[in-house]
Amino acid sequence: MRHIRLRDGRTVPQLGLGTWELTGKQCTASVADALSMGYRHIDTAFAYGNHAQVAAGIAKAGVPREELFVTTKVPLGKQSRSQVLELGTQIRDQLQMEYVDLLLIHWPNRKVPFDETFAAMQELIDRGVSRSIGISNFNADLVTRANEVSPAPIVTNQVEFHPFLFQKKLLETCEALDIRITAYSPIARGEVLQDARMVEIGRAHDASAAQTTIAWLLAKEIIVIPKATSRGHLAANLAAVDISLSTEEISRIDSFDDHRRLVDGPWKHYPLE
Ligand SMILES: NC(=O)c1ccc[n+]([C@@H]2O[C@H](COP(=O)([O-])OP(=O)(O)OC[C@H]3O[C@@H](n4cnc5c(N)ncnc54)[C@H](OP(=O)(O)O)[C@@H]3O)[C@@H](O)[C@H]2O)c1
Repeated sequence: MRHIRLRDGRTVPQLGLGTWELTGKQCTASVADALSMGYRHIDTAFAYGNHAQVAAGIAKAGVPREELFVTTKVPLGKQSRSQVLELGTQIRDQLQMEYVDLLLIHWPNRKVPFDETFAAMQELIDRGVSRSIGISNFNADLVTRANEVSPAPIVTNQVEFHPFLFQKKLLETCEALDIRITAYSPIARGEVLQDARMVEIGRAHDASAAQTTIAWLLAKEIIVIPKATSRGHLAANLAAVDISLSTEEISRIDSFDDHRRLVDGPWKHYPLE
């Protein structure tokens, strides 16, 4: 598995497993299956309510903690200093691990100054609860502001990113600051499968539209976290790391952007564009 270098000197496996809407025994099974196949990067969040099931999947797979990269996220309504510090205790209790590799602000919150939240996240780094920090759902202006006020380097901005929402300007803003984009809903929550153009490009590589989309994102040095439940989908997504698209194919997929935003968020705090 290829690793991406982060600006604080750490690295992250470029392909990970998303776990939004994975719950109960299915979540435990999918996480364990993914790890047994070779995944080493798991994305979760307090808001997903599945920390305990993710922990059970990790325990079931028996992969040593130091081989894993685990991300979780500070919820929208818990961004004051005391709330963030309390989350640190909950991370250890719920995920059954001393530390997470990455802690993100899940959504920007207009009611809490960024510097307060980032200072508290730095305290969690100092206490050994998180190794790195980042943001999610931050627009280009907010990325720049966050980068200025955070005492710890912001290593990634996790945003919706797929062929129908190719956020070129945001990608360029983040790249200029050495902040990596992590693509969420990377296979457009399944919508790429219905797109005849993606199916056609995939056919030339004996690949599905989902795999082709993942290959397109990997080629852009983007971190990718598709959610998959079945062993078949987990294996297919992992196999996408071996697909090499031509420059022409990549440019063609770039042109499929139609501003299709699939995830509805608390945009009243800050619009995404
Ligand atoms: N930071 C944020 O605000 C935020 C927001 C949204 C998502 N995320 C993160 O990003 C992750 C991924 O996004 P997502 O869950 O919204 O959507 P996604 O990964 O784009 O799509 C998931 C859907 O695609 C299907 N699928 C996966 N692999 C496939 C394959 N090879 N062939 C056909 N279908 C396949 C899955 O089916 P099965 O489950 O049946 O396999 C599921 O229905 C989330 O799980 C979460 O960790 C973060």
